[in-house]
Amino acid sequence: MSVLGVEAVPPAPGALPFLGHAVALARDPFTFLSSLPAYGDLVRIRLGPQTVIMTCDPGLTRAMLVDDRTFDKGGPFYDRAREASGDGLVTCPHQLHRRQRRLCQPAFHPAHFPAYTTAMVTTALSMARSWRHGQVIDVNHAMVTMTMRAMVKAMFATRLSAATDRQVVDDLTVATAGIFRRMLTPPRLTRVPTPGNLRYNRAQARLRRTIADAVSDRRTDRAADQGGLLSVLLSAEDPDSTGDLRALSDTEVAEQVLTFFLAGAETTANLLAWTLYELGRAPGLQERLHAHTASVLRGRSPSFELLPELTFADHVATEALRMYPSAWFLTRTAAHDTRLGEVSLPAGTTLAYSAYLIQRRPDLYPDPDRFDPDRWEGHKPGRTAYIPFGAGARKCIGDRFAHSQAILSLAAMTSMWRFVPLTDRVPRPAVHATLMPRGLRMRVMAHPRL
Ligand code: HEM
Repeated sequence: MSVLGVEAVPPAPGALPFLGHAVALARDPFTFLSSLPAYGDLVRIRLGPQTVIMTCDPGLTRAMLVDDRTFDKGGPFYDRAREASGDGLVTCPHQLHRRQRRLCQPAFHPAHFPAYTTAMVTTALSMARSWRHGQVIDVNHAMVTMTMRAMVKAMFATRLSAATDRQVVDDLTVATAGIFRRMLTPPRLTRVPTPGNLRYNRAQARLRRTIADAVSDRRTDRAADQGGLLSVLLSAEDPDSTGDLRALSDTEVAEQVLTFFLAGAETTANLLAWTLYELGRAPGLQERLHAHTASVLRGRSPSFELLPELTFADHVATEALRMYPSAWFLTRTAAHDTRLGEVSLPAGTTLAYSAYLIQRRPDLYPDPDRFDPDRWEGHKPGRTAYIPFGAGARKCIGDRFAHSQAILSLAAMTSMWRFVPLTDRVPRPAVHATLMPRGLRMRVMAHPRL
């Protein structure tokens, strides 16, 4: 096989002077990303001054993801994310990763899921019960609030005061929105004291303080220990490390907590918001989901024990993760000179992958823009063509957490309400760390009595 240089990688057309493809990516990310595979298995794009090699072939994407020593976290997305959450599990470089992953993994042990899922269901039911027949809801706001509250409950295994709870949700929203804006903004400008930058810095500082206080309270008051993710992190030990490195320090615990919030709340909210949008467009599907869920629940609340039976909600969530993978644009840096497919890449090359781009390829998914949960009837997603949670050692640690939350929240919400769109307009994605359906509002209606 001949080996080609980076200059042989076909460029995507339409680069603007100075800005490159940043405008196309920010203005219409779905169309831009779907257009790229037509140019090659690897395609060159430009974000401002930076050249990025986009992997468009599922096999090459997987090859990059599983070789995390060579293709390390870095590039515009991770450089900005690191500024926000430090060297936590999502952003840390390869050399710090194994220890952190071993220390965090126990928090996602199946034994903790009954407690986590209880937090998810309680939160979803309490939100659904607060709605009234005919009420119009701001879907994004409702889903972000719900997933963040569930995360707060699962993390701290206790209630924060109503005021702190609201503050944490608001601050997390500002922080997640800020990371992506910063990715597309020259670093110099992020230091200018604009109202937006000041709001971002304040939210970041307050979040860190709240989390640090919770960590030190929990360390000093073991009696208050009621389980939960935070407690597991505080007691985790890594047998392969020595001395101080055997456990996470308080600062590291706080950093991981912030990381989980940033990585886990808006991503799951994004998934739920698009799912409600698709269900609103397909009343037949929504009715089937309601009927199937009702037949499983038989008047009971959704629960960990009933998860395996909620198969239709599972297919709906799996399909939503295919069409609207929340982590839609992620970057890597080549740690040393290497090769990907037929192309040799010098150390420092920036690469990116997008589950969205792969999972909308018509050669992998017939009629890829159709929301069709029945695709998943009788078979599980493949490892190469289905990558909403990434792959390899850096694969999402919260995949099961997120999937369970999606299924249980959908079951809780749709067993009480029908979600009805207000218009036929397709919402544009709001370009953030995730792509929430911009301005999506829906009416909640009680199910007709049979
Ligand atoms: C629908 C929801 C979610 C989606 C789509 C998602 C997606 C992803 C993806 C694609 C990655 C890999 C990133 C890369 O390859 O660069 C990742 C990593 C990660 N996610 Fe998630 N995630 C979700 C929910 C969660 C939740 C609920 C948590 C925590 C409770 C979480 C915590 C993490 C962490 C800590 C990592 C880094 C893992 C490592 O590098 O070892 N995520 N996620």
